[in-house]
Amino acid sequence: MEKPQLIVNGLRLDGRKPDELRPIKIETDIIKNASGSAYMEWGNNKVIAAVYGPKEALPKHTGDPEKAIIKCVYSMTPFSSLEEHGRSGPNRRAIEISKVTKEVFENIILVENFPRSEIDIFIEILQADGGTRAAGITAAAVALATSGIPMRDIPYAVSAGRVGDTVIIDLNKLEDNYSDADMPVAIAPRNNEILLMQMDGGLTREQFKKALEMIKNAGKVITKIQREAIKKPYEDLINKYGAKYE
Ligand code: CDP
Repeated sequence: MEKPQLIVNGLRLDGRKPDELRPIKIETDIIKNASGSAYMEWGNNKVIAAVYGPKEALPKHTGDPEKAIIKCVYSMTPFSSLEEHGRSGPNRRAIEISKVTKEVFENIILVENFPRSEIDIFIEILQADGGTRAAGITAAAVALATSGIPMRDIPYAVSAGRVGDTVIIDLNKLEDNYSDADMPVAIAPRNNEILLMQMDGGLTREQFKKALEMIKNAGKVITKIQREAIKKPYEDLINKYGAKYE
């Protein structure tokens, strides 16, 4: 395919402004056997995240006497995308995304509370349209929060990028393929600590600053949606039975 013009009259091909996120929906507790789970729709991405643990690390010798070990499996279903698709079993890209996601959560979960344990995080991409690692991290953060596993914060992730001189947020698949830069970032919103930063392409110092600013602004919206999703089951109970704490 020839490189499409990604920005026409100031708008992107899906009608968004440069700093506009795709719509995001999150639902919790969708996998009953999991310690915590979430289903997310982020634009045309559809993602399930499920968390198991903390439980005894197996095989036992893998356990760390100081802290829990985090295991993460990111995987794309073979039917998740029209052009390309995930094959059964992990490929190089899935192994990389699993690794960086694991590192995000190792640094935010209070792992030292659970020596000799493991916490398993599964991220399954049912439908893919660019930005699936960010969607996976954002959904897994909600699954972890609902599981009650203690974290220092609830992280979110989103990518920023560049089309010519214009910095854009939340690249879809077409933008991911043809943009001049793509930078997925995961952040702990309480102190804006950066937990993941990857980069494809290049940004000037000014564009980088602008991208980070856009990411933090988007983060306010994403964080709100995450928190509302986490609270919803409790609010539903309160609405059903009334708020009686006796
Ligand atoms: O998803 P993310 O942007 O985090 O990762 P990427 O490696 O930059 O891939 C960009 C996009 O390409 C994915 O989100 C998918 O939409 C698509 N893709 C695919 O359809 N099949 C693959 N095997 C790999 C990527």
